Amino acid sequence: MSKKNIAVLVSGGGTNLQSLIDCEKQGMFGESKITLVVASKPGVYALERAANNGIDSTVLCRKDYESIADYSKALVDTLKNADIDLVVLAGFLTIIDEQVYEAYPNAIINIHPALIPSFCGKGYYGLHVHEAALEKGVRVSGATVHFVTPECDAGPIIMQKAVEVKQGDTPETLQKRIMEEAEWKILPEAVKLFCEDKLEVKDNIVFIKEN
Ligand code: GRF
Repeated sequence: MSKKNIAVLVSGGGTNLQSLIDCEKQGMFGESKITLVVASKPGVYALERAANNGIDSTVLCRKDYESIADYSKALVDTLKNADIDLVVLAGFLTIIDEQVYEAYPNAIINIHPALIPSFCGKGYYGLHVHEAALEKGVRVSGATVHFVTPECDAGPIIMQKAVEVKQGDTPETLQKRIMEEAEWKILPEAVKLFCEDKLEVKDNIVFIKEN
């Protein structure tokens, strides 16, 4: 397993960041380490989690840049200067463009709180995803970890985990169950496989190499 530097990009509370930190501490990523947290706004609790765990962090606000292109360039510069090998989008809500995808082909992963291709794409973020699932009346939802490509939520799927939808669920209760039972588990598992160089993408399909 080669040693990788991991950046986690966040916009909020950072519970997925926390699960990654906890798994790193348990040795799940071998010698690979979360070396940078990038937040899209100041004051988010994820930054405190980084500080509490001695991880460098930086804030890149979209409003400080004229365009998505300028913002994306600044992000790529930040990631390259920090020698980052893997970029994890963990609740990162700012739009970025192809400069980032081209700088990190098959090396940016995202966690989406539904079973893609259900309830994904433009507008499906945060509680909206769970509202849509409840409106449809699905009996299972879940989470998906995928590589990021220019098309929103359409990149190669790395891992998925189903979670039961219960009668009486609200968007908030469903969100919480999906985080606890799926997101906090499959995101670190996908990071582990990446760090072990076990993920291979062929024709938009991810193959997991056996040892
Ligand atoms: C998660 O539900 C994740 O699936 C979505 O944004 C949320 C981030 O939560 N992309 P947190 O900041 O990790 O607590």
